[in-house]
Amino acid sequence: MDDSREQLRRIVAGLRTNLALRGRSGLGGVPLAPTRRRQSIAPEGPARGRVVVAGGGPAVSADDGPSPRVGGLVGLRLVREELGDCQRCKLSRGRKNLVYGVGNPDAHLVFVGEGPGADEDEQGEPFVGKAGQLLTKMIEAMGYGRADVYICNVVKCRPPGNRNPEPDEIAACEPFLKKQLGAIRPRMIVALGKFAAQCLLRDDTPIGRLRGNFRSYEGIALMPTFHPAYLLRDPSKKKEAWEDLKAVLAALKKMALEPPRAPV
Ligand code: URA
Repeated sequence: MDDSREQLRRIVAGLRTNLALRGRSGLGGVPLAPTRRRQSIAPEGPARGRVVVAGGGPAVSADDGPSPRVGGLVGLRLVREELGDCQRCKLSRGRKNLVYGVGNPDAHLVFVGEGPGADEDEQGEPFVGKAGQLLTKMIEAMGYGRADVYICNVVKCRPPGNRNPEPDEIAACEPFLKKQLGAIRPRMIVALGKFAAQCLLRDDTPIGRLRGNFRSYEGIALMPTFHPAYLLRDPSKKKEAWEDLKAVLAALKKMALEPPRAPV
């Protein structure tokens, strides 16, 4: 099948999935929202399309330009389908669950971590262990809830003994992270720790030097900051991490994107 037919097939499959999901969830018709809505700021802010689904949330975005883009829930579902019962790297051999991502598929703010730990592997959801509890507090201090943002990792399967992910494992998983981000098209990414920041930025500068400075990932603002697990080991660094998150809030405010609640 040539590329355009394959693309069309995927779009039709995506629309069918969306219709079925909307039927089941009682969300009604399919919004064919122009991608431009992401440039003009959604006045309803992060509440837009807020549905929590481990594999993504609902909404079809179609471009009003010549090449339609499948985003939101459907885009995330397609990426999840493509991942399938992934055996692309050796991490698959030790996993209990593939940990894909969680939150709002239309989030304007996405947090990217390193990889699942034991709790995440057990539950199939990112950032639910001790580091996850701290991340949840950080998100809530910003005025959001976990359901308002999207949370995922560079690698989707737990590295044994919580070791660092290896280059071949990152290389196997990274295309799927990129596709997740391509489906969501957030306005801001917070890269948690060295692996997320270095992977997305293709920059091996230490996280201590990367953090606190806005960068761009494919046209999306990206703030590197410390990983919550590191903050648990060295709580003196929490102040800097909070400065980074406040800078994120200020930048979002300039884009007319505000959290649903007042930040702490
Ligand atoms: N650390 C991460 O980087 N990701 C998780 O999901 C949990 C802990």
